[in-house]
Amino acid sequence: MKTKLSVNFAGIKLKNPILTASGTFGYGYEVADIIPLEKLGAIITKTITLQPRIGNPQPRIAEAGNAMLNTIGLQNIGVKAFVEQPLSKLSKIKTPVFVSIAGSTAKEYIEIVKILRNQKPISAIELNLSCPNLKKKIICHDLPLMKEIIKGVKKFSNVAIIAKLSPLITDIAELALCVQNLGADALTLTNTYPAMAIDVKTFKPKLSTIKGGLSGACIKPLSIRCVYDAFQKVKIPIIGCGGIMTGEDAIEFMLAGASAVSVGTSSLISPKNLINIINELESILTEKKINSVKKIVGFLR
Ligand SMILES: Cc1cc2nc3c(=O)[nH]c(=O)nc-3n(C[C@H](O)[C@H](O)[C@H](O)COP(=O)(O)O)c2cc1C
Repeated sequence: MKTKLSVNFAGIKLKNPILTASGTFGYGYEVADIIPLEKLGAIITKTITLQPRIGNPQPRIAEAGNAMLNTIGLQNIGVKAFVEQPLSKLSKIKTPVFVSIAGSTAKEYIEIVKILRNQKPISAIELNLSCPNLKKKIICHDLPLMKEIIKGVKKFSNVAIIAKLSPLITDIAELALCVQNLGADALTLTNTYPAMAIDVKTFKPKLSTIKGGLSGACIKPLSIRCVYDAFQKVKIPIIGCGGIMTGEDAIEFMLAGASAVSVGTSSLISPKNLINIINELESILTEKKINSVKKIVGFLR
């Protein structure tokens, strides 16, 4: 018998725990000709802001060993255009949509949530509190601001609120607990790691902003440690994220405590990798005669 992959994440039914990571899958519908979107657990869309943003200057992507660096700077079409175009297209797909949002003030986050309220087909909102590529400090490093944002959006949202945190924190478990106490329904751990690379031919930084966010295979053990630590302290479910390339990687995150995972760099390389990860997850667990994927969540504890 095949392993059941369905999970209930923060009250949302997912057919499997494999999600797209924000910013690496566009707004989702663009990929519909390449892979069957209804096979995915959920689509987490590119972070949107109140006003459109052109993002950071080029170059904003670079290779760094077996990882990648980016400094996209939240380029996006803005919430109003998002509701008119991508969201209406996504409403035809039978896959839950989690919308990632960001702002520089609590007022901006709340304004976006008010615009998104009652829009179909939104199942959850992921608060990007962790973008490393903006001039201001990372939001989850500013506790009073983060408190204002989470409490504010909770008042106006009628869907689950997921807080996406930066791994650049001394005690990720304490921060996760704080976010849970503020009322967040779930966590995403983690965003990229602030990093840089230098071109030794030109003696110049590889990115226009000098520093950017590191993602891909090499960050996986770092992010798994974050999930493991947070899982010891919080009750809310966790989306594990960072360097997931295979079904085995997804299993590792789930054993550490993730109830679902989101896949970024690997789906940028090829969106088909998402489907491979789902299939691999199913075949490994089936071979092990585990009847439901839920059984492995936090197995290590
Ligand atoms: C090109 C690129 C763009 C990204 N844009 C966003 C974004 O808009 N919002 C966000 O929350 N995370 C963004 N991320 C971070 C990813 O969602 C993910 O957290 C990170 O890349 C780690 O996962 P991975 O190693 O599987 O890529 C971006 C990552 C990349 C590589």
